[in-house]
Amino acid sequence: MFNSFGEIFRFTTFGESHGKAIGVVIDGVPAGVEFDEEFLKSELARRKPGKNRFATQRKEDDLPEVLSGVFEGKTTGTPISIVIFNKDQRSRDYSNIKDIFRPGHADFTYFHKYGIRDYRGGGRSSARETAARVAAGAVAKMILRELNIKIEAGVIEIGGVRAKNTDFEYAKISPLFALDSEAEKEWIDLIDKAREEHNSLGGVVKLRIKNLPVGLGEPVYYKLDNILASAMVSINAVKGVYIGNVDSHKLNGVENNDEIRKEGFLSNNAGGVLGGISNGEDVEIEIYFKPTPSIFKPQKSVDIYGNEVEVNLKGRHDPIVAIRGSVVTEAMAACVVVDMLLLNMTRKMEYIKKIYQ
Ligand SMILES: Cc1cc2nc3c(=O)[nH]c(=O)nc-3n(C[C@H](O)[C@H](O)[C@H](O)COP(=O)(O)O)c2cc1C
Repeated sequence: MFNSFGEIFRFTTFGESHGKAIGVVIDGVPAGVEFDEEFLKSELARRKPGKNRFATQRKEDDLPEVLSGVFEGKTTGTPISIVIFNKDQRSRDYSNIKDIFRPGHADFTYFHKYGIRDYRGGGRSSARETAARVAAGAVAKMILRELNIKIEAGVIEIGGVRAKNTDFEYAKISPLFALDSEAEKEWIDLIDKAREEHNSLGGVVKLRIKNLPVGLGEPVYYKLDNILASAMVSINAVKGVYIGNVDSHKLNGVENNDEIRKEGFLSNNAGGVLGGISNGEDVEIEIYFKPTPSIFKPQKSVDIYGNEVEVNLKGRHDPIVAIRGSVVTEAMAACVVVDMLLLNMTRKMEYIKKIYQ
């Protein structure tokens, strides 16, 4: 239950960083969805490691195998299971920190909670698990595509330098998923400098959901914004989420309220959500990622026996996780939206009559 997400569109992920495979079982997918396996592959390719110098050099093909739930190109209404075999595990890179906790990573808490130290690439706490989420998100996007609902994301800030533009089309072709080609140049220098200095950087992702109907989101503990926030903070290294205009808390009421006319809202400081329910505007959120914890600078730590030690890391790591993380934010948003769409279908008698009368 704690490895699952969603109420009706519900997925469960399994696997560890250096285990045999990772994967996902997705339940609640309606029968008859056009299953686009090429799209699934392309989504995983967007997140996969080793593509360029802005990502970890671990080389994984991330080729999915669909084991169930699809027949003759359509979903069957039964659980869809997708497995991705790990190929490029190098557990020996971690042998020198076998008993040592990496500062900033989950080694310390996983060991103290479970009493087991799976030192191989972080085990289950590794963001390798997020490939399985991207597979679930790809299936969710196949449903959204049929409803013309679009989700897009890109990087808006790296190392404290914020983009001036938000060009989601540019983000699609940028190696950094950058929303701004000018800021991108500065970010590349910052990332190269951080790498030379054996350091890492944090960043911010902006995400937009277009063409949502009014009415998605359930009061009071399954609000659209609260579940989106929960979905995002469940992603490794995410430390914060802002719904709507990130300066709202600095504005006064006159400035912040989105006035309403017959044709719609005159602004979108609310980020498309009021009272936890979509208002028909674009849903806009920002997601804040901390710097990659695994860095190649000696740092102070302790080992599992309580001795004070110095950590010297080997291995391959993302210099900044927000870049690949942006693909994961899209996947999680897609899963949330599909779940909310399915839930909303039961919320009015007229909807139920449409099906049963
Ligand atoms: C796409 C993605 C890739 C990541 N890659 C790495 C990595 O290469 N090395 C690392 O130490 N952390 C990486 N992380 C972050 C860690 O998984 C995360 O910081 C760690 O599990 C501790 O959890 P917390 O930061 O949420 O507290 C990555 C995160 C994401 C979203």
